[in-house]
Amino acid sequence: MCGIVGCILKDDDKKVAPILFDCISKLEYRGYDSIGLATYDGNMHIKKDKGKIEEVNNKLDLADMPGNYGIAHVRWATHGDPSKLNAHPQLDEENTIAVVHNGIIENNSEIKANLIAEGHIFKSDTDTEVIPHLIQKYMDEGLDLEHALRKTIDILQGAYAIAAVSSNEPDKIVATRKDSPLIIGISDDAYYLASDSPAILKYANDIIYPEKGEIVILDKNDVVVHDEFDNIVHKEIDTINWTPEMAEKEGYDHFMIKEINEQGTAVRNTLTQKDNIQSIIDDLGHVSRICFVACGTSYHASLTGKYLLESLAGISTDVILASEFKYSAKTLDENTLVVFISQSGETADSLKALDIANETSKTLGIVNVVGSSITRRAQYVIQTQAGPEIGVAATKTYVSQLTAIYLFAALMAKNYDLVDELDKVPDYIDEVLENVGSIKSMSKRYNYAKDFFYLGRGYSYPTALEGALKLKEISYIHGEGYAAGELKHGPLALIDEGIPVVIVIPPGDSHRKTMSNLEEVKSRGARVLAFGADDDEELFNKAPEVFPINRNVSEIIAPLVYIVPLQLLSYYITLEKGFDPDKPRNLAKCVTVE
Ligand code: G6P
Repeated sequence: MCGIVGCILKDDDKKVAPILFDCISKLEYRGYDSIGLATYDGNMHIKKDKGKIEEVNNKLDLADMPGNYGIAHVRWATHGDPSKLNAHPQLDEENTIAVVHNGIIENNSEIKANLIAEGHIFKSDTDTEVIPHLIQKYMDEGLDLEHALRKTIDILQGAYAIAAVSSNEPDKIVATRKDSPLIIGISDDAYYLASDSPAILKYANDIIYPEKGEIVILDKNDVVVHDEFDNIVHKEIDTINWTPEMAEKEGYDHFMIKEINEQGTAVRNTLTQKDNIQSIIDDLGHVSRICFVACGTSYHASLTGKYLLESLAGISTDVILASEFKYSAKTLDENTLVVFISQSGETADSLKALDIANETSKTLGIVNVVGSSITRRAQYVIQTQAGPEIGVAATKTYVSQLTAIYLFAALMAKNYDLVDELDKVPDYIDEVLENVGSIKSMSKRYNYAKDFFYLGRGYSYPTALEGALKLKEISYIHGEGYAAGELKHGPLALIDEGIPVVIVIPPGDSHRKTMSNLEEVKSRGARVLAFGADDDEELFNKAPEVFPINRNVSEIIAPLVYIVPLQLLSYYITLEKGFDPDKPRNLAKCVTVE
C-alpha cells in the first residue's frame, strides 16, 4: 500500500527535505509507483512524479527543497493510474493545502460529485483529492486546520492515515488515522510521523501510537493529540528497540537475501518468548477450539499450526483466510481462541476479522511489528522477534511465526521434548545457508520454466504452498503447491516432459507415500528437485536432483528448515530472470485495504 511520512524540525534554518526523502525511501516496500514531497518555507513547494523513487529522484532531486517541515508519500495505485497528477501530495484548488494519504476513501465519488456541484474543480483520478478540497472548504468557512480536518474525517468512509499542511496555517502538520497505520516519532530536534517504524528508526525511537479518530498536531514545540471531543489525550511514549541498521541492507544485494540469512537469529530470538507464551496459555482458561486467521504467507504458517495443534494437543483447529472470515464467524463462542497471524499487524482483512472475533471469543495476535494495530486490539499478543522485514516477500517473519506457533502448540500439549528440539533449528537453518552454492547452480538450470509444481504431505504440505508462493511472488513463474496425495485428482494431468516438480520429502511417516508421488511425476517426464535428508539413499537414487538437509531434522520440525532452500531457490531464479526480488510488481508488503 502507500506510505506516508512527515517531519517538523525545531531549527528553522535546517532543511527537512533530505530527511523526508531518507524516511520515505525506507517505505518503498509499501508501494513504489510514484513519490512526492511537500515542504513549506513561506511558500508551498511540491515535487512529485510517477516512477520508482530512484528514477524520480534522479529527475527531480527530491532532497533539494527549502523549508524546515513537510510531508512525503510513496504510492501504490488503487484509484487512478500511476501518473504525476495522481501522485501525492494531493492539493486543493489554490494549492494551499497539501495532503498525503494511505488507504482508500470509499465514498470519494459521492463526495466528489457534491464538491463539483459546489464548484470545485478536480485534477486527479485519486480518491485522496477530496480530502484537501474538503479541508479547503472548511477552512474557507472559518475553521482552523485541525478542525477542518476533524470535520473532513466526519464525512470520510474507508481507511486512512492522513497528514496535511496548509500555507494558511504554517509551521504545523496535522494528522489522523482510521484503519491504516500511523506512528508519531519524537526526538530532541524534531517530530515525525510515519506509516511504519523503519521510516524513522534512524531519527527517533520514542513512539506514540495514535488511535482511530484522534487528531495529532505537530509543531516545532510539541506534539499534541486530541480526541474526537477535542480533549487533549495524554499518550504513552513507547521505545522501539529496533536499530536503524536492521532496516538497512548491510552489504547484501537485496533485503530478501539479508532477511533469509537472518532466519537462524530470528528463530533464536523468537524462542525467548517461551515464558510469555506459557503465561498466556495459563491465563487462557478452557479452549475447545482454535481458529487461525491470516493472509498470504502468514496463512501458510497458520496451516502448519493446524497440523501441530490437532496432532499434538488434540484441539480441533481451523484455518481461515482473513478475507473469508466474516462468512464463517457464526460458529465462534467463548471457548474458541481465534489466533491472528500477521507480519505487519495492519492487514485490513485481518483487522476486520479481529473486530468480529473480539465480540465472541478469546483473541491472540502473533505479530512482528511492535505497536501495530493487531497488537493493540487482540486480547493476548505474542511478539515474533524477527526485527523489521523490508523485502516484500516474507521470509524471516515466516519462520518466526512458525517458531511462535510451535512453542504455543508444544506448550499447550506439554510436549517439552519438542520445545527442546526447537533449540536446534537455528543451527539446521545455518547449515542450509552454508550450502547456498548448490541452490545457485540449481537456479541456473531451472529459470527457463514457465510452471513449477511443489508437492508435500502432512507438515510439508504448507511448506509446498509457501515455496510456490515465494516463487510466483518474485520470479513471476507460475508456481502451484499441492498436497502430494491430491496430485492424482487433477494436477497430474499437467505434468509433462521437463516440468520442474519440487518435492519436499523429509524423513518420517509421510516419506514412503511422498516417494510414490515422486515416482508418479518422474515417470511422466517431470524434472524432480527433491529436498530431503542427507542420508536418504533411496531419494538420491530416485531423484535426479537432491538438496540435502541434516538427517536429524524430523518431519515435525521440517517446516522451519525446509522452507529455507525453497526461499533461496526463488531468490536466485528471480536474479537469473533479471527481476528485483525486493520489489515484486503489483505487490505491497502491507495491505491496508480490503
Ligand atoms: C501481503 C504481503 C505478504 C503477506 C500478506 C499478509 O500480501 O505481500 O508477504 O504474507 O500481505 O500480511 P501480514 O502482514 O498480515 O502477515
